[in-house]
Amino acid sequence: MPTSLIPPTPSASDYADSGDRPLIPETADPIGLFQQWMAEARAAEPNDSNAMSLATVDADGNPDVRIVLLKGFDSAGFTFFTNLESAKGQHLTAHPSAALGFHWKSLRRQVRIRGSVTRVSDAETDAYFASRAAPSRISAIASDQSRPMANRAVFEQRIAELSTIYGDSPDIPRPDYWGGFRLTPIEIEFWQDQAFRMHDRLKLYRKGDGWVSLRLYP
Ligand SMILES: Cc1cc2nc3c(=O)[nH]c(=O)nc-3n(C[C@H](O)[C@H](O)[C@H](O)COP(=O)(O)O)c2cc1C
Repeated sequence: MPTSLIPPTPSASDYADSGDRPLIPETADPIGLFQQWMAEARAAEPNDSNAMSLATVDADGNPDVRIVLLKGFDSAGFTFFTNLESAKGQHLTAHPSAALGFHWKSLRRQVRIRGSVTRVSDAETDAYFASRAAPSRISAIASDQSRPMANRAVFEQRIAELSTIYGDSPDIPRPDYWGGFRLTPIEIEFWQDQAFRMHDRLKLYRKGDGWVSLRLYP
């Protein structure tokens, strides 16, 4: 594993001192490899190892990107939760495909994922919503995410009112404008930094029930 920092414009000695960089193993199981890299990221990253860029396109075809948290993944796809009426919610409802990007700086790794997007079932969304701390559920209810806020006091007032109603109750209901999306991957690319920009890339494409892989020039 990498052990020391790499400055923005590295010298030969910066690379020499910066620890090992394993090449990406050949695999036909990108979910298994992602699971391994995510576990290593969880151990290495100081914060939010599950943070990922989520790229969408709006109704005019203009791209947009923001960070969201990956809340689960398996062979069916990669899930995240949000306000369905937010900008991203509207983009994904109108144009249900997206791309995800992870950058684990401490490991000098990137993963890119592209695919189609579907809504997470109500039952699965309710289970995740119920697992959140009560104040986080209340702020999800109170936020008109991505829409203009006259001033912060209005938001805080709404939160105070909801807190009076619900307190720490486990029964805070999920609003119907809050939900999850699952991205079903068609491509997953793993990238590992190597010295002097000779980086290693392994890209897997879905083929039938399985995956085929290609090494790409960096
Ligand atoms: C580390 C981090 C994690 C975030 N996680 C989420 C998330 O899981 N869901 C979400 O809706 N917004 C999350 N956000 C906020 C989004 O980046 C974004 O500001 C918000 O969702 C509105 O995006 P939109 O206007 O494109 O819909 C996160 C931001 C950061 C920096």
